[in-house]
Amino acid sequence: MRIEFAVPALPETGALVLPIGQDNAFGPLAEEADRLSGGALRRALAASRFTGKKDETLEILAPAGLGLSRLLLVGLGKPEALTLESFEALAGNVSAQLTKTGDSGAVLLLEVPAGCALAPVAIAAAAGLGAALRAYRFDRYRTTEKPDQKPSLTRLTIQTTEPDAAATAFAALEPVLSGVTFTRDLVSEPANKLTPVIFAERCRELAALGLEVTVLDEAQMRALNMGALLGVAQGSANPPRLVSLLWRGAPEAEDQRPLALVGKGVTFDSGGISIKGAAGMEDMKWDMAGAGTVAGVMRVLAGRKAKANVVGVLGLVENMPSGTAQRPGDVVVSASGKTIEVINTDAEGRLVLADALWYAQETFKPRRVIDLATLTGAIIVALGSEYAGLFASEDALAEQLLAAGKVVGEPLWRMPLSDAVDKDMASDIADMKNTGSGRNGGSITGAMFVKRFVGDLPWAHLDIAGVVWSKKDTATVPKGGTAFGVRLLDRFISETCEG
Ligand code: BES
Ligand code: MN
Ligand code: ZN
Repeated sequence: MRIEFAVPALPETGALVLPIGQDNAFGPLAEEADRLSGGALRRALAASRFTGKKDETLEILAPAGLGLSRLLLVGLGKPEALTLESFEALAGNVSAQLTKTGDSGAVLLLEVPAGCALAPVAIAAAAGLGAALRAYRFDRYRTTEKPDQKPSLTRLTIQTTEPDAAATAFAALEPVLSGVTFTRDLVSEPANKLTPVIFAERCRELAALGLEVTVLDEAQMRALNMGALLGVAQGSANPPRLVSLLWRGAPEAEDQRPLALVGKGVTFDSGGISIKGAAGMEDMKWDMAGAGTVAGVMRVLAGRKAKANVVGVLGLVENMPSGTAQRPGDVVVSASGKTIEVINTDAEGRLVLADALWYAQETFKPRRVIDLATLTGAIIVALGSEYAGLFASEDALAEQLLAAGKVVGEPLWRMPLSDAVDKDMASDIADMKNTGSGRNGGSITGAMFVKRFVGDLPWAHLDIAGVVWSKKDTATVPKGGTAFGVRLLDRFISETCEG
C-alpha cells in the first residue's frame, strides 16, 4: 500500500476517515463536511450510539452533498490519553476496514485534537507505519483469488499540517517496515520452501545492504565440533547452516565489542524421534522465528545505518526423525566441550542455541548477548500470546528490554532464573541432560540450560514461542507471522547502543 501525505482538505471522491474526539468533538474539516452534507454527519451521530470513544467506528455511505464513497468516523477517546501507538493502531484498524470495501484510495484526516500534546509530524508518520504494518499479506501461494477477494485499498493519503516533514519522518521508518516484512515472510514460509539452505540464501541477500554475511556449512561446523547443533540436524535430509550477519555501524566507538543476537532457527520441528503429536504440528514451521527475528533486526539496522556494532548469529536446522536421527539417550559433545545427554529429542532448540551461542562468543567477543527462541510450549501456558518471556542475568539489561518492549507494543514479562532448576539437569553419564526431571516450569529449565553456554557477560533470553504467530488480527499485526521482537530490539539498540 502506498502511503502519501498532504495538507488537510476535503477530498472530492473516495473514502474519507475522520477521527472524532470524545463526546463527538468536531475539527474544522468535520464541521465543513457536516455543513456540505446538510447536517448528515450530526444526524448520523444522533441516530447511532457513537460517542467518539476510542476504537468506536461509524460508517456513512455516499453522504449527500459530498462526492465521497464513504465517510468513516473513528473515535479517538480522551485526547490526553493518546500516544503514538494509538495513532498506529487507529490507522492499522482503518486500513483493514477499508481494504474490504472496494475503495482503492482513502484519505485519513489527522488533525491533532485539542488537549493532545503529540507533534503532528510524529502522529502522521506513526499512522503511516500502522497502516503499512497492518496491510501486510503473505499471498505468494494463492493463485485462484478473485479480484473482489483481494485487498482493494492501494493508496492511503494522510492529511496533516506538515506533509513534507511527515513524509520525511515516515521515510525514516521504512527500514523498520522492511525488517518486519522480511521477518514475517520468513516466518510464514512453509518448511518445504524454507530449508536451512534457503534461509541462509535469503540472508546472503542482505549483504547488499552492507551487512557482512558468513555462512558455515555442515563440514565447517563439524570442524568446529558443533556436536549439539549437528546432532539435531542429523536426522534431516536438509543440511544445517550457521549464519552470521555483522553490522559495524560504530567503527569509531571506544568499545568495539558488538551486541550479539542469537536466534533459534529450526525450520521445522517434528520433535525428532521424540516425535510430536499430529495436532498442530504444522505450526512448527515457525520454529525458526528466533532466527527470523534476528535477521529482520539486522536488516533494520543496516537499512537505517544504525550507529552500533551488532552481530546476528542464526542456528538453522531441521529436526526430523529418520534412520540417521539422534536417539533419546545419545550423548553429544558441544563445541564448548560440555557434554549433553539428549533425553528428549524435542528439546532441540537449546541444543542448537548451545553451539550458536558458543560460536557468537568465540568469534565476535561480544559485550552482551541476547538470544531469541521459540523454546518452550510452557511459556505459552505461563504467559499466553501477548507477552514474551524474558530471562536476564542482569537487572539493568532486563529493565532496558522491558522498557523497549513497552514503547513498541511488544511487551515482555520477566521470569526467574533458578539454581535449583539448573541442578535438576544433572545427568548420570554426561555434564547435563537436555531436560529437567519433570514438566513443571519448563521455560525456566530451558533458560537455565541455555545459560550454561553463556560466559560471564550480560545475557538475556527471550522465549517467544507464544508471540511469533497470531491466530487473530490485531491493529497493526494481521494474523500469521508477527515479527515480534524486531521493533523491540531495534528500539533497544537505538536506546542503549547508539549516541
Ligand atoms: N519448538 C518447541 C516449543 C514450542 C511448542 C513452540 C509449541 C511453540 C509451540 C520446542 O522445541 C519444544 O518442543 N519444546 C519442548 C521441550 C520439552 C521436550 C522439554 C516443549 O515445550 O514441550
Ligand atoms: Mn522441539
Ligand atoms: Zn523447537
